[in-house]
Amino acid sequence: MRKLIIANWKSNPSNSIEAVKLAKSTDKKGIVITPPHVFLEHVSNTLKKSELGAQDVYGANFGPYTGETSLNQLKSFGVKYIILGHSERRKYLNESDKLIALKVKAALEAGFKVVLCVGEGSVIRRRGLAASKKFVLNQLKYDIPSKVPSGKLIIAYEPVWAISTFKGSKPDTPEGASEMIGFIKKTLSKVKPKVIYGGSVNASNAKAFLSQRVIDGALIGGVSLKPLEFQRVINDIM
Ligand code: PGA
Repeated sequence: MRKLIIANWKSNPSNSIEAVKLAKSTDKKGIVITPPHVFLEHVSNTLKKSELGAQDVYGANFGPYTGETSLNQLKSFGVKYIILGHSERRKYLNESDKLIALKVKAALEAGFKVVLCVGEGSVIRRRGLAASKKFVLNQLKYDIPSKVPSGKLIIAYEPVWAISTFKGSKPDTPEGASEMIGFIKKTLSKVKPKVIYGGSVNASNAKAFLSQRVIDGALIGGVSLKPLEFQRVINDIM
């Protein structure tokens, strides 16, 4: 199976000129690029091969939700994928599982592919693998609706302690990520989602992660902003 690579630009770059430049340099088949909402139109008009994703949405087609972006608006830019439940939103925006569950349901009903991020923080990780699995299991239970259209749900296992921007972070091991991803797949055996890994993926470790059979791809933050290194990651696995 071809591996899925999703570039998560987070709140970068600083202006639309740089966004277009970055999109041009990473426009490849099999890649999903998720710019911030403010650059969706620029990036959408630039991409020829990659698919377009968004980093969040409000769970309504339209309406009085000041400051939010609606599902219809994302659709109008040609967005196909939506990242939901990213740990930065859970942490800095206080997004609850209740809110995330509403968004996941609404985005799936609107026909988008949802990339649901789950993963334990360092405090739970220190309690061990069983505690980490229990935490992830609860996120899956709360965040995923009872009906999921076939092929529309992707899970990104992103242990919070492995994400590059968090203090003291270092990537999971390919074996550790495989263990949790295997567990997620077993838990969701009826839905059969693709499950990808995220957390400090770079040019020196991408091959080790993506050569694991159980890992279906990667969600890449920091390195997706560095065209040369990102290209090396892609070359390695495509
Ligand atoms: P990172 O980010 O690759 O910079 O660790 C991944 C993510 O937060 O999605």
